[in-house]
This record gives sequence, structure tokens and C-alpha cells, in this order.
Amino acid sequence: MGNTMEQAIVNPCRRVQGTITVPGDKSISHRAAMMAALASGTSRLSGCLRAEDCLNTLKALGDLGAKVELSGESILITGGNWHAPAGVINMGNSGTGMRLMAGLLAGRPWISELTGDESLRARPMDRIKEPLEKMGAQLELTGKGGCAPIKITGGILRAIDYEMPVSSAQVKSCILFAALFADGVTNVIEKAPTRDHTEKIFLQMGIPVKVEGNRISVRGSGTKGPLLNQFELKIPGDFSSAAFWLTAACAGPGSRIDVSGVGLNSRRTAFLDVLRRTGADITIDPDNGGKTFEPSGNVSVTGAALRGIVVGGSEIANIIDELPLVAVLGALSKDTTVISGARELRVKESDRIASMASNLRVFGVDLEEKEDGLIIKGGRKICGGVRTESHGDHRIAMSAAILALFADKPVVIRNIGCVATSYPQFWDHLRSIGADVRISNCD
Ligand code: S3P
Repeated sequence: MGNTMEQAIVNPCRRVQGTITVPGDKSISHRAAMMAALASGTSRLSGCLRAEDCLNTLKALGDLGAKVELSGESILITGGNWHAPAGVINMGNSGTGMRLMAGLLAGRPWISELTGDESLRARPMDRIKEPLEKMGAQLELTGKGGCAPIKITGGILRAIDYEMPVSSAQVKSCILFAALFADGVTNVIEKAPTRDHTEKIFLQMGIPVKVEGNRISVRGSGTKGPLLNQFELKIPGDFSSAAFWLTAACAGPGSRIDVSGVGLNSRRTAFLDVLRRTGADITIDPDNGGKTFEPSGNVSVTGAALRGIVVGGSEIANIIDELPLVAVLGALSKDTTVISGARELRVKESDRIASMASNLRVFGVDLEEKEDGLIIKGGRKICGGVRTESHGDHRIAMSAAILALFADKPVVIRNIGCVATSYPQFWDHLRSIGADVRISNCD
């Protein structure tokens, strides 16, 4: 995470307009880099996200023997020669990086240690310890309260049948990556569908993975792992980054934003249904007839007066990263918005239920905080002249910036270094749609 104690001062700007090309999908970038490190030869990833989370994963893959080169718009990764790391591997702020990497290391014949920043060292890792130990690895959670650092003693892995107690694509993917090094077929059963980028990239690479309802099965290749050849992949833009602009436009009558080249995997785009329920007018124009490895396209939104909505149940997993923006929509709508069944938000980069509740209150929004969500009573003016906090969480900082556009005076967002974990161009993109933003040192 960025260390600079900087703040952004965002001026009100109800009407936004422009076209934005968002940076590469973070989830796909992590997975693509890891697959390239497993493959022999040099793979070329274009559109790979160059933000701190993914740069940490690339560095970690380098620590394990991959050669990583930045080449123009592409990243070249030469894989296939894994070795024990010389020291502790630092995954920074990234839960995805740490959990997926643990899966990849579980079947390696050495001891590895994974750590991360303060936020990552406070996030639950027992959720991956249990299945990876069932498979035959040993994981010691040496941090406070059973969190990271994680010491992984790689083992000879066996295939397992595992019913996941939490809906988490990170846990699912951790097990699927480990399963590549097991003998036999591993079955993972999810409670509710979560993002399926791992399954999609496995299929793309010819790895035998089968999806039947909520069951994902993968046949492992044993201790040597799968034999993969170098590949080329174009990674689409990140829908979760696009969601900030869609929110900014949909809440301001007279606004229009076009986001181009954005990933449209249906396990990621449930936020579009949410936006439509608020009354937003959205047009989708898929690239290549939607027939690529991961679908992508352009999304346009025009502004309208928003209605309050109810979100919960099985849709939560597919809007998990957009829930701070659902709270922003709630603040901007005419009536009440209810978010429930979202307890997982408490263990993200920050406790996002508490962070959003605290920021929205600073903006003068009336709300009730629940254990698993928020009840937001819209219809009030959004107060400017206030200071909000990022809580060290990129999505909280960026959500505050979007709500600040609708305030009655400028708003300070403190400690914004965290934005660099997923979207280093965010402030420039905010300016490009008409907002007046000033970055300065925190006072
Ligand atoms: C991710 C899955 C989600 C999401 C995270 C990225 C992934 O986490 O919040 O930003 O790349 O698999 P969970 O699956 O743990 O909810």
C-alpha cells in the first residue's frame, strides 16, 4: 500500500461526462500471472493491472523463480522453474494474492512464509488452512488472532471433496490451485455462485475442470503439477473499477459516462441489475459478440433520480466489491436502501460495514448499522465541508470521492495512498469526467 499520507479534496460536480477506459481486471490479472508462472516459456499478458496488489503478486512470483518483465503495454512472464523462496514473501494488501498463492505453495516440497501489510495480517486465513490441511499441507498461522503470517509446509496433496462454509472465490480458487498438484479429482461445492475467473482460465489453458451447478471439479496432475505451455492473454478492464463511474453518472440527471473495454463476466456484473433497480438507464455493447475467454464490452449510463432498493441473499457474492457503492446509491436515493446478508464485508481490506457507516454519517446521511449490512435512509442533503477517512481501504476512499461529487461543499478524503492498490489512475480519471480534485499532504 502507498505510504504517503496524502489527502484528496474533491469539489462538488453533479453533472459528469466522459469516456473512461478502466485498468485491467485485478482478479483476472492475479490468476493470469500465476498461470503464466506455472507455464513453461514466456507468456504475454496484455492489459494486466499494474497496481500495487498485482505488482506484489508479480514480485512474489519472481521470488519463486519466475522472470517478470514489463514490456510496453504488456507483461512478459517466463515460468516453469519454481524454487523455494529465499525469504518471507510479502503479498502487501492483497487477500486474493495471499490466498491464491497459499494454494499454489501447498503442494511444493519446501517451507514458505507469506505475510502482508497490517490490514492483510488482520484478515481471516483459517478459511484456507482447513481445506489445504485436509489436502495434506501444513499451515501455521503465526500472526495475532490466527491470522497471517502463514508458514506453509508443502505436502504431497490428495484430492478432497469440500463444501465451502463461506461464499468466497478466493477460498474456492485457493483450493482449485492446490488441486492442480493433487492426485485425483477435487470437488469444491459453493453455497452461492462466486466469481469464476479461475475456472475460466483453467478451461482456457486446457486444464480439466468441470462445473455442474454449484460443484466445481478439477483433475490434478500430481506433485509435478500441470504441464502448461506459454500463452497470450488479453485481460479486460475491471468491472469493479468501472462501477465507480457508473455510480457517479447514474445519480446525476444530465450526466453520461461511457466505460470501454470493461469485463462483463456475469459473476461480476450483478451491480448492473442493482443500478437498473435504482432507475438507472444503462446500455451494454458487448465486444466480439461476447465470445472471448472473458466477455467484455462498453457500458454507458445516463443519470436519473434514484429509488431506494433492497439487496441481499445470493446476489451479495456477485456485488461484494461494489457494496460500498450500493451504500453511496442509498445515500443519493429518495428513500430507504437495505443491504443485508453481507457479513463478509466485515473482513475485507477494512470492516467495510463500519467504514461506510462512519463515512456516510460524516456526510450527514441517516443510517442504521446492522451486523450484516446497512439500512440507509436517503433523501437528505449530502453535507460537504467535512473530512472523511479511507480507513486504509481503496474502495472506501474511492466511494467517498464519488459521494463527494454530490455534496454541497468540498470534501476532504484523508489517507488516500491505498487507492494505488487497485486503481492508480483513479484521481486523473475523476478529473477527466469534469471533477475538480486537489491532492495534498494530509493536514
Ligand atoms: C476476489 C474475490 C472476492 C473479492 C476480492 C477479489 C478474487 O473476495 O472481494 O476483491 O479475486 O477472487 P472473496 O471471494 O473472498 O469474497
